[in-house]
Amino acid sequence: MERDTFYVTTPIYYVTARPHLGSLYSTLLADILARWQRLRGKETFMLTGTDEHGQKVAQAAQEAGKHPKIFVDSFIDAYKRTWREYAIDYNRFIRTTDPNHVAAVQHWLRQMVAKDEIYKDAYTGWYCTPCETFVTEKDAGDVVLEGPPACPSCGRATHKISEECYFFRLSAYQDKLLAWYKEHPDFILPRERAHEVINFVKAGLKDLCISRTAIDWGIPFPGDKKHIAYVWADALNNYITAIGYAQKGKEQEFKKWWPADVHVLGKDIVRFHAIYWPAFLMATDLPLPHQLLVHGWIKINQQKMSKSLGNVVDPDVLQENYGADQVRFYLARHMAVNHDGDFSTADLERTITADLANSIGNLLNRTLTLAEQHGLREVASPPAWANAALELRDAGATMVEEFVAHMAELHIHLALASLMKFVAQVNAYFHAAQPWKIAKSDAKAFAEVIAATCESLRMVGLLLTPIMPTKMQELLGSIGVRLKEGHNTIGELEANVWNHTFVLKRGKPLFEKPEKTTESAAPATAQPPSSEQIKIDDFAKVELRVGTIQECEPVPKSDKLYKLQVNLGPLGMRQVLSGIQKYFAPDDLIGKQAVFVCNLKPRKMLGLESQGMLLVSEDADGKLQLITVGASVPDGERIR
Ligand code: MSP
Repeated sequence: MERDTFYVTTPIYYVTARPHLGSLYSTLLADILARWQRLRGKETFMLTGTDEHGQKVAQAAQEAGKHPKIFVDSFIDAYKRTWREYAIDYNRFIRTTDPNHVAAVQHWLRQMVAKDEIYKDAYTGWYCTPCETFVTEKDAGDVVLEGPPACPSCGRATHKISEECYFFRLSAYQDKLLAWYKEHPDFILPRERAHEVINFVKAGLKDLCISRTAIDWGIPFPGDKKHIAYVWADALNNYITAIGYAQKGKEQEFKKWWPADVHVLGKDIVRFHAIYWPAFLMATDLPLPHQLLVHGWIKINQQKMSKSLGNVVDPDVLQENYGADQVRFYLARHMAVNHDGDFSTADLERTITADLANSIGNLLNRTLTLAEQHGLREVASPPAWANAALELRDAGATMVEEFVAHMAELHIHLALASLMKFVAQVNAYFHAAQPWKIAKSDAKAFAEVIAATCESLRMVGLLLTPIMPTKMQELLGSIGVRLKEGHNTIGELEANVWNHTFVLKRGKPLFEKPEKTTESAAPATAQPPSSEQIKIDDFAKVELRVGTIQECEPVPKSDKLYKLQVNLGPLGMRQVLSGIQKYFAPDDLIGKQAVFVCNLKPRKMLGLESQGMLLVSEDADGKLQLITVGASVPDGERIR
């Protein structure tokens, strides 16, 4: 029987930096699914949060010279702000440092030890810190290896660890997992991802080391102070601890939401969710989640976004330039959930112009303007629709059917493709009917065209609400349609009854066409004069960050250049050359925070590479001064 609740989760993000477009994508997919189920009248719970323990976070904190808790705390507001800007309607933001999560994970570990699902032994093997994962030689391939194997997820070199460890009896779950995948062919979506997982499990599972002694930033292992919980054993459990697992008085809440309907995750973390997590749950005697929605990566020029490549897209800047709903629509329409997709601002601008401004916005605007010009403030459906309107209504019914079917498969981009095809049909109907010509001569026919267009816009507006919640509320408001909470709006749309009365109110255009920013750049040779105005986009391209100068020494054979070692927090250390010897002694600079341009192409000077540029200004006496910031700004923080 279909449940009337829906529980969806995002991965919890490692807090070593502010959220980027990739983090937004995972979160947005979960938000869209939650909003979609709400539109079907279901009570929903959406969970997101941050993964705050483990070696990766500890290392980043150390590089920033901060205690890990202070370090992770410094990013939480940025996450919450970005999610707010993008209207992410989550029910809980869990942090793995939350005391109730910590206590519940410890309870889980105690229970696992008591059930003999976990035992203590010695471990020697390879570990990938960026992925926080143990790498067996089998994972790395069949070659006989000398030296550290590369991590199969990220390709980076692993390092050897040798320590006493608590092992989870993962090997005991091989057959049970294979049986589960077989009985639940929709467990992993898209289905092609399931093959990788099944092959991996078939090749044999080893017991999994789920504690660490090399670091102390994590959940203490109950009864054994030397150990902390392995970060994935800690993090995966967030999906149950957030809704009350092992917490007094929360039994009903837990029963209400668990098992999750959908875990959204990127393709890089499938193994943890499709193998470890189900095995943990089986060992805990808890039901398994219904589905994993595995999405591809957002790439920039075919490359994965990463801090080290300096190609990370900032969702806050996109929101400021284009609007949150526009970016939400673009990501949902343009990125095929099951594939990697390339992001570009030119493409984003094209989508906003073509789909939103020209197709949807313009249709709404023309309808409302015409109605207003001819004194039509309220329009009801006629007793009988003409053939052209009936055809449009049928096309609408087909579109809703397709949309619902695609959403059931979690193929959001295909659902939107069907919807945009219908929008084109509505536009074609509107143009063919020429309401501007018949307004005076045939008021009845004119009113029918306006009514049929409003019926179509109502369908479009309701279906797009999960994608563009704010803009679609505006659209629906301008034709007098109100979204009913807790009501099965989708069921109503499937019934396809066109009998509504629309109260029309023209406002400002729904979508502005973006000014072209990417393709209008001046020829490379033409340098703009310093007083020329630039667009915010141009400024956003410059990555200014705060860093602390940790070392400073003159460059041999130069009377101008200093070689600086700069701590940029989560970005690590960078070498920056600066021609300021004349103005500062090394001691004037060491330990000082200053502002650096961080995305300049590295440049060689006197055989040394400069990986950034120090900013200075001149005071009234002609002396150079560092550009400084307030005391509370962490190293690596972006200046915008
Ligand atoms: N902390 C773990 C998840 C634990 S869940 C119990 C983690 N964190 S992460 O911050 O590295 O990644 C979180 C999610 O962001 C993953 O689903 C990952 O795939 C997604 N993305 C990170 N970069 C991405 C892109 N460039 N494109 C799309 N999503 C990608 O893994």
